[in-house]
Amino acid sequence: MGVEAGKLRRNAPQHPLETTVTMADSILKIAAIPGDGTGPEVTSEAVKVLAAVALIEGFDFDVETLDWGGDRYLKTGETIPEGGLDLLRTKDAIFLGAIGHPQVAPGVLEKGLLLDLRFKLDQYINLRPVKLLPGVETPLAGRGPADIDFVVVRENTEDLYCGVGGFLKKGTPDEVAVQQAVYTRKGCERCIRWAFDFTRKRNSPKKTLTLVAKTNVLTFGHDLWWRTFQEVAKDYPDVKTDYNHVDACCMWMVKNPDAYDVIVTTNMFGDIITDLGGILQGGMGVAAGGNLNPDAGGVSMFEPMGGSAPKYTGTDQINPIAAINAMAMLLEHSGQPASAARIDRAVAQVTGTKMKSQAAGKMGYGTKAVGDLVVSALR
Ligand code: IPM
Ligand code: MN
Repeated sequence: MGVEAGKLRRNAPQHPLETTVTMADSILKIAAIPGDGTGPEVTSEAVKVLAAVALIEGFDFDVETLDWGGDRYLKTGETIPEGGLDLLRTKDAIFLGAIGHPQVAPGVLEKGLLLDLRFKLDQYINLRPVKLLPGVETPLAGRGPADIDFVVVRENTEDLYCGVGGFLKKGTPDEVAVQQAVYTRKGCERCIRWAFDFTRKRNSPKKTLTLVAKTNVLTFGHDLWWRTFQEVAKDYPDVKTDYNHVDACCMWMVKNPDAYDVIVTTNMFGDIITDLGGILQGGMGVAAGGNLNPDAGGVSMFEPMGGSAPKYTGTDQINPIAAINAMAMLLEHSGQPASAARIDRAVAQVTGTKMKSQAAGKMGYGTKAVGDLVVSALR
């Protein structure tokens, strides 16, 4: 057992899509896409913590590193290389560092890599915990870890993200642009159902699922969400339900964050409110999320929520805690809950007793040193 058994392929193999040698099923097979900018640095720290926790808890793993991202795109014109999705489907989970490259036009990598992976692997849940850890500063005056601990379940495959729309008379003074939001009964029902199950399992004293939408204006799409929410709720009499319009939710998240337990929401609104949630929990240095395909055979992807922060690349200043939290989520959802809990405890100890700040360059330690502190706190 341990690091020797767990094979660590830190450097991309000759051919980045070279498949893994057949191994026993008990090995946790991870594809790592470190990506752009500081993505590789934070991924290294997350994998360092993975290796250490695997040694302690006694499980085997294999990390295959894929060089997908901006640099590869500039060389080859490919975002997801041919055969790439099939390779990912052979894995138990995917770890994504960050994407976003200063020389690549905005949208190319977001659409061609991140959103494509979410859509093509049908990762229909975007799970984003908003939890203030000990020692971490929140911009909310007078609030502490007891007040900020909720989870946003964001639908991840529909809405304005489908890329449905078009132009009329483009480039003329009469130009028309249409961008349509797509909502399906299947898409909202599977997300809402998953959120009810999750709220039930989380079993917090509040045990409340809040639907966040905009039924007063989006009278078609969000009417579908509303009706589906009411119907599915009947199967979960033990879970309390609530509803917020998204604008009001933004006020309540700031004013009464302690009122929330689990929020379920649409893709676009979920994108926006989880940045608000991210800052409440201390910022992009700590916020992590999972793109889940919870169906049998589905492959899920875990990522720190922040971007590639190009200006910090290679300076050992970026905060790896978000990536380490994402690795804990990966383990939680890949049959290693004890390892996930062990990482969570270690991270809380490091933020609570060591780090000065969660902002890049102000942590009181370098990126690698923070990774080392978490490793030491695992025991
Ligand atoms: C996120 C990001 C992405 C999104 C972008 C990069 C496409 O903001 O993961 O929240 O909008 O989903
Ligand atoms: Mn976002």
